[in-house]
This record gives sequence, structure tokens and C-alpha cells, in this order.
Amino acid sequence: MKSAVYRKYGPPSVVSLEEVETPKPSAGEVLVKVHSSSVTTGDARMRRADFGPALIAIPARLFLGVFGPRKRVLGTGFAGVIQAVGDGVEGFTVGDRVFGSVGMEMGAHAEYAVFMEGASVVRIPHGVGFEDAASAVFGGITGIFFLREQGKLDELVSQGGARVMIVGASGGVGSMAVQYAKHLGAHVTGVCSTRNVELVESLGADSVIDYTRTDFLEGDERYDLIFDTVGKCPFGRARRILTQHGRVLEAELSTGSIGRVLWSKVFGRQKMIGGVAFDRLDYVETIAELLGSGAFVPVIDRVLGFEQIQEAHERVDQGGKVGSVMLRMVSGE
Ligand SMILES: NC(=O)c1ccc[n+]([C@@H]2O[C@H](COP(=O)([O-])OP(=O)(O)OC[C@H]3O[C@@H](n4cnc5c(N)ncnc54)[C@H](OP(=O)(O)O)[C@@H]3O)[C@@H](O)[C@H]2O)c1
Repeated sequence: MKSAVYRKYGPPSVVSLEEVETPKPSAGEVLVKVHSSSVTTGDARMRRADFGPALIAIPARLFLGVFGPRKRVLGTGFAGVIQAVGDGVEGFTVGDRVFGSVGMEMGAHAEYAVFMEGASVVRIPHGVGFEDAASAVFGGITGIFFLREQGKLDELVSQGGARVMIVGASGGVGSMAVQYAKHLGAHVTGVCSTRNVELVESLGADSVIDYTRTDFLEGDERYDLIFDTVGKCPFGRARRILTQHGRVLEAELSTGSIGRVLWSKVFGRQKMIGGVAFDRLDYVETIAELLGSGAFVPVIDRVLGFEQIQEAHERVDQGGKVGSVMLRMVSGE
């Protein structure tokens, strides 16, 4: 099978397609023929060994490989068809259409991938295509982790409504977060550049701030949650537009914001909360439900052939993608 292999950290050119042996599922494992997979900002950062501030970068590098990547194939979110199951697998059958995340094992940038039964993988809802399903995984998991787990948005809404600002609303994470916050019943303000205002409105945002024209930290509105996907909300300034018990949910931590997260854990009613979103089966189940009901509309920047893997990484590195960059491993779908 073909697999997108990288042996050293670096620019997109370090990734290339190689012919490798197709894996066989061991007991409890499932082999999937990958039809589509996303190339995300997470993949690009791992490829570049760009792990952020030292407090995160040091353990990340120890885990992922000090001198070069321990896992040679990137890719977490995927959609495909079950090809074979190992002994003891009861929940999946050959031919099932599935999607989800192979997690930190990675390896979805390949024609075949293996995951353990019990991993964050579910059946694709009826009527949803492979690319659409795979495109929702990375942003969906991150949005659910920050808004539901960290921000308790569902509870805030049930206590009488919540106002949420999503910074980076047109990106892979933000485009899913806008839709998820709307689904939970929040009043949503999206922040993006001029060219993406219409898109973010179409995703359901109640209002959109164009950051190229307006300083989104200077308005008169107050927010219960600000989900900052781009590291553009210094806490000292963001506090002005937070409610009394408001929170900044920070996906893009810097050394300064880590200090703020630790400080505000103890002091003050307004908080900055950080974290790293790992996949969970119930998150992917939620994504499946929302794709199936039409509450999640996939946002896809472009679909590239598997042989265009370097181009896909270049597009992500370039910045300003709209939603997800997708790879198509099986043509004609
Ligand atoms: N902590 C975690 O667990 C976790 C998980 C996933 C991702 N992340 C991080 O989240 C970040 C976003 O990921 P992504 O995949 O959504 O990236 P992306 O697809 O490249 O989207 C970036 C978004 O940021 C907006 N943006 C750029 N400059 C901005 C500015 N100055 N002010 C406000 N918005 C601005 C872009 O809008 P325009 O194009 O309109 O300018 C776009 O909407 C990445 O850095 C990633 O590492 C963290």
C-alpha cells in the first residue's frame, strides 16, 4: 500500500509517498481502507516539530521523538471502509463505512490504517460522504472538547443562555465550533477576515466581526466564553469583554498564556483555560449525530489526491485555509 512517510522534522518536502507493507489486524484491531483523511494544523505542527512553548514542547518532543518522528506516518481523522477485523472484534464488520480518529497512534495518511476496537471510530451516518465525514473530525473534536468539556457551554445555555465569541471562526476548528455552539443554543459571534464573513454567517453565527476592520476585544458586548483558536486574546485585554464569570478558552497557548491559565485557576472570577484536545468516542458519536441531522455542515478548503500530499501540507502551512484540507485516497467518490 502507499503511505505518506516522513523520517525527519521539516517542511512539506520531508513527506513523500512510499510503498510499504499493508498492515494486518491483530486481535482486537480493525483494518480500514482509508477513502479520505484530513491534513490538519496538528499534522503540520508535528511535521515541523512546532510544539509551542517549552512547557509543552519538551514533553511533546520526548513523546513524539527527540531527533526525529517516532511515528513515521501522520494523520488522525479519516473515513473509510472496514477491510478486515482481528480476532475478538464484535462491533465492526467487513464493509462497514466508518469515520473517526486513530488518535495519537496516527497513520491515517495511508491507503490502509489500523485502529483498536473501542477507539474513537463510528459508522458514517446514512447519506454522508467520506470526505464530509473525515473533514469534521479534527475541528469537531477540538470544538466539543473546549466548548462542552472546558467551557461547560451546555450548562451555561441551560442556565438561561450564553454568549460565545469564536476567534478564528472560518478555520478547521472555528468553523466546527461556530456550528456546535449554535447547536447547543448559544448566541454566537464569529471573528474572521473580510473574505470569510459570509461563510461564517452561513454557518449560523448571529454576528461576525471582521478583525481586519474592527478590534474585536474593544466592543461593548459581554461574552460568557471566548474560544480563541488563534492565540489572539491576551487575557488582560479579553477580560474587558468577558462577563463577571466569563472564560477565555485558549487553544493556542503561549508562555504568557500558560502563566495566565495557572494564575487564574486560583485568583479572580474570570478565567483563562487551556488544554489539549484528545479524541474520545463520545465526541465522535456527537459529530456523527450532528452530521446525520444536518446540524454540522462540512467546511472543506480543498480536496487533493493522495499524491498531492506535499501540496496539502503547503496549503496548511500557508495559513488562512477555510475549514479542512482533505486527501482523497480512493478516486471516483
Ligand atoms: N489545543 C488544542 O488541543 C488544539 C487542537 C486543535 C487545534 N489547535 C490549534 O488551533 C489553531 C487553529 O487551528 P485551525 O486548524 O482551525 O487553523 P486554520 O484552519 O488555519 O484557521 C485559522 C483561523 O484563524 C483566523 N485568523 C488568522 N489570523 C487571525 C487574527 N489575527 N485574528 C483573528 N483570527 C485570525 C483565520 O481567519 P482568516 O482566514 O479569515 O484570516 C482562520 O479562521 C492552530 O494553531 C492549532 O494548532 C489546538
